Amino acid sequence: MALIALGVTGGIGAYKAVEVARGLQKRGHDVVAVMTHSATKFVGAVTFEAITRRRVITDQFETGANSDIEHIALASTIDLLIVAPATANVIGKLANGIADDFLSTLYTATRAPVLLAPAMNTNMFAHEAVRKNLDTLAARGVRFVEPGEGYLACGWIGKGRLAEPDEIVAAADVILRPASPLRGQKVLVTAGPTYEDFDPVRFIGNRSSGKMGYAVAAEAVRRGANVTLISGPTSLEPPAAREVVQVRTAAEMHRAVMSRAGQMDVVIMAAAVADYAPQRAPQKVQKGADTLTLVLHKTPDILGDLGHRRLSSAKGPVLVGFAAETENLLARAAEKRAKKHVDLIIANDVARSDAGFDVDTNAVIVIGPDGSEPLPLQSKARIASDILDRVERVLAAHGSRTDQGTSQVRG
Ligand code: CTP
Repeated sequence: MALIALGVTGGIGAYKAVEVARGLQKRGHDVVAVMTHSATKFVGAVTFEAITRRRVITDQFETGANSDIEHIALASTIDLLIVAPATANVIGKLANGIADDFLSTLYTATRAPVLLAPAMNTNMFAHEAVRKNLDTLAARGVRFVEPGEGYLACGWIGKGRLAEPDEIVAAADVILRPASPLRGQKVLVTAGPTYEDFDPVRFIGNRSSGKMGYAVAAEAVRRGANVTLISGPTSLEPPAAREVVQVRTAAEMHRAVMSRAGQMDVVIMAAAVADYAPQRAPQKVQKGADTLTLVLHKTPDILGDLGHRRLSSAKGPVLVGFAAETENLLARAAEKRAKKHVDLIIANDVARSDAGFDVDTNAVIVIGPDGSEPLPLQSKARIASDILDRVERVLAAHGSRTDQGTSQVRG
């Protein structure tokens, strides 16, 4: 949890700062609102007070506010200063060291990281004076959330609208999060089901929606990893991965994974890969006898192949598998971890209605080198984050082992 000073200046987007404060609080942060005089013309200080449950700072020379030289006290305790919206006026003041109110004084006094969300008329944003001030601040290490394009309150259409509160909160998150060991690492994630065709119109599939794998890929992107997402058929919007490969069958997924795994630091197999596939008939199978027998052939075990390949090599990616089970969850998952020679197995009870396939929540057990650890029911995004925390630990241990050039054999 961080202490964040949220500077609010006098722009029409000031009302959105209320949502920024709420978003930051939802992530567990403590927020102190610092309003300029003109901001109070747009939103009442009471609104921020009610939300932040803290006194709102509106004036540098308020009686009682200076007993402990408040701007200095706050400057040294905050973890982040956000200014949203940041008007052309405040940007100019911050760039030029003018400290004539609490917010601008706080900026000059603090050594905490600073995040600005500019918002103004399009021509003002493009003005040379404003650009120069933004460049000065950027060169000083100030971070920005770019304004959006669209209808502006002044009636113009163009760039200048305050970024959405979610974007500002996400940008704050990135700054506050300690650098992830996954930053710059090559992470391959598989997701979704595979469809095994038995004629041109029919297939054998499974109930996987891809939500868990996509959440893992999105979280890896957020942590700065170079993500390759290999996805079976889903209706989901892929995250901003470096490469997204759409496949249909287990055989296609096998080819897509095996051809890339050699360059990866981490491979996470969240896909529900078919274990058996029928021979595809060239024409639609016609109805005839009362029963129809399909002969299925075993598909390649992608994770198993990766595990065996790593056994015989001095190097190889961290391997993570999922075990979807309806009974004997822990024992079966532990068995798979040993059989496939992987680092972590995420055991998933797919018989539950609130976890597993096609729901937004999940509850899993992570089985790793140090035993098993349950992750209670929560959103798939949170489960993804918890899983990647464990992957980072394995990666750290893995890195030190490869550095020493020792073998990677793990059970
Ligand atoms: N997996 C794979 N290739 C397959 C089947 C599964 O890479 N042909 C991967 C899955 O993506 C998952 C792990 O292996 O990460 C375990 O999958 P699961 O279906 O639970 O286990 P199986 O090994 O297929 O065994 P079973 O279906 O008998 O439980």
